[in-house]
Amino acid sequence: MSVNFEHFLYGGDYNPDQWLDHPDILKEDIRLMKQAHINTVSLGIFSWAKLEPAEGVYNFDWMEETIDRLYENGISVNLATPSGARPHWMADRYPEVLRVNEARQRALFGERHNHCYTSPVYREKVRRMNQKLAEHFDSHPGVILWHVSNEYMGECHCPLCQQAFRDWVKEKYHTIDEVNRRWNTAFWSHDYQSFDQIESPSSIGENSIQGLYLDWRRFVSYQTTDFCRAEIAALREAGAKKPVTTNMLYKSPWVNYFELADAVDIVSWDSYPFWHKGPESQTAVNAGMRHDVMRSMKGEPFLMMESCPGAMNWIPVSKLKRPGMLEASSLQAVAHGSDSVLYFQIRKGRGGYEKLHGAVIDHYGKEDDRTYQECCQVGADLEAIQRLHHSKVEASVAVVYDWENRWAVEASAGPRNENMYYREAVEKSYGAFRRQGVNVDVIDMTKSLEPYQVVAAPMVYMFRAGFEEKVRAFVERGGVFIMTYWSGVVDENDLCFLGGTPGGLMDVMGLRSTEIDALYEGEFNTLRVVDSAVSGEDEIAAGNLSDNVVRSEDKSGVWDSLNHDITYRCEHLCQLVDLRTAKSLFVYGEDFYAGTPALTVNCYGAGKAYYVCADAEQRFYDDVYARILKEAGIRRILEQEIPAGVEVSSRRSDKTEYIFIQNFNPVSVSFCPEAEAGEVIFGEVSEKMKPFSTVVLERRQAITEK
Ligand code: GLA
Ligand code: ZN
Repeated sequence: MSVNFEHFLYGGDYNPDQWLDHPDILKEDIRLMKQAHINTVSLGIFSWAKLEPAEGVYNFDWMEETIDRLYENGISVNLATPSGARPHWMADRYPEVLRVNEARQRALFGERHNHCYTSPVYREKVRRMNQKLAEHFDSHPGVILWHVSNEYMGECHCPLCQQAFRDWVKEKYHTIDEVNRRWNTAFWSHDYQSFDQIESPSSIGENSIQGLYLDWRRFVSYQTTDFCRAEIAALREAGAKKPVTTNMLYKSPWVNYFELADAVDIVSWDSYPFWHKGPESQTAVNAGMRHDVMRSMKGEPFLMMESCPGAMNWIPVSKLKRPGMLEASSLQAVAHGSDSVLYFQIRKGRGGYEKLHGAVIDHYGKEDDRTYQECCQVGADLEAIQRLHHSKVEASVAVVYDWENRWAVEASAGPRNENMYYREAVEKSYGAFRRQGVNVDVIDMTKSLEPYQVVAAPMVYMFRAGFEEKVRAFVERGGVFIMTYWSGVVDENDLCFLGGTPGGLMDVMGLRSTEIDALYEGEFNTLRVVDSAVSGEDEIAAGNLSDNVVRSEDKSGVWDSLNHDITYRCEHLCQLVDLRTAKSLFVYGEDFYAGTPALTVNCYGAGKAYYVCADAEQRFYDDVYARILKEAGIRRILEQEIPAGVEVSSRRSDKTEYIFIQNFNPVSVSFCPEAEAGEVIFGEVSEKMKPFSTVVLERRQAITEK
């Protein structure tokens, strides 16, 4: 189902349960929310103790009064199930709901997000609570969405989870011999004789079998998703009809969000970029990528369920958002496909861990507060661009970012145990595409490549089942595929491919990856373009270049525009390759592999396959990907040159395209969209764009991208 709320949701987490003895404040909240154009709040996320103060004793009155009051004032509710934090009485009476850590110690009561997902008691308590909430509130016209739990995370190693893991492994592999084969347990004589011996990875136990580790990660993700499904089933059994979401948190190593997304009706997530820590333009690229991951899971508009109106208090240094940053950051979410701007939180709590976390309403409590004023502005902005609500983002370019691959890359010993920089590698490819002013989807290996013309798959160390075939078919039918170093090394069980890498795709890539050189932090190599002037017989004769180096006559025009005097730096990892049918476009500049290929291209079927051999600097990706997109004929959203730090994105509904132009530089830049680019429906257009300003254009005549 495609969830459409008819307008942008604007508001955020609201915790009246912390203020029940302050009716004056609860009343004032409504006034201030309305003035800020707030139309939605997320309610009851951590309210279990107020909803069920003693076992089996439910008190929903305060919640009902709150929902009524909000509804009367035009404010809707995302109603939460409170499973993210349980009440004291439950932990006291049923210790099995408390989590056990990897060293097999059971937690005391405290914190949140720390219950056992397997515990039948916890599942039953949650089921009952969810059913009661659904029976009570689903039909309330003020309730528009179920917000199931909060940021599912973590893992539990209790005996119940161990047994569930063993059952899961047994169902997957059937016999213990098969487990031994898939996990290669002959290593260090770790063969299992029976399923009962299987234990989750632990620093005081088994930590040397990556196959076990990977399956444990998959199990934790499965079990968490199963818990989420059980929560939703409880709501539905009690007759709930409203759509369901759960808020994700992007970096989660515990849950494969591409899996969790299938369990919910609409994807939502909590966005907390570290603005002003580094250059805002780079933070914007990374923040944009995260929105795009969330959008790509369902290929539908998503919700930004949380973001911070002021400064977060959980980071080492709580830097204030500079004037205009909140607006830019909020509109960026919308530009990338969010149908909401929601905050954590509406009112700053008085005590507890988050009392100093940014909020719409400060402890001061009045409207002449900078953050509050900026929140009012964002609310007004969303009303001004209401017409583009629920429009879609279309991309003909995608980057692969895969949770399972990330687990596998990080768990493997070698070639760099300091940091493999997997996420950063994806961000570099993503950033290079974005700087060309095109929309980009971020997909995992289970997704189809067919909707795209160009796909980059950085560091796809592990080929998940079916990926190799997908890539082959994609290139064969004319797709442009970019793969990087450290790809196609292992299969789904982290077993190395025999007979050469990238496993199964050596013909498509036109090469074999032979060895990989790991560099210490601070060490570099260089990359230089193969110079048509010197790439001829001389260099080949000198042994610097193989016969496969691309000659000037083989090059299409786009590569000629590369400046041959520029060298680029690379670090961390340098893959050495043997060319088969591929041609070299760049070579290494230093070390014993100087002159050997560093960027290659191979024609396969109707398409092309590029291979980036080293962890190159961003400039390299920018220059190379610009040419790849040009060669592939990808249309940029705006044809004119875009200055650095200006982001261009678009959404589309039917025949109308909405173009967002955002200046993420803290200074003004000279940029004015051409008149024919579209009609200005938001922001000021002049010769310059102010710092953190946004312009939205409406282009009526659709230009087909595909
Ligand atoms: C998370 C949680 C919220 C709150 C915020 C603070 O995203 O979901 O409950 O703790 O962080 O930034
Ligand atoms: Zn457990």
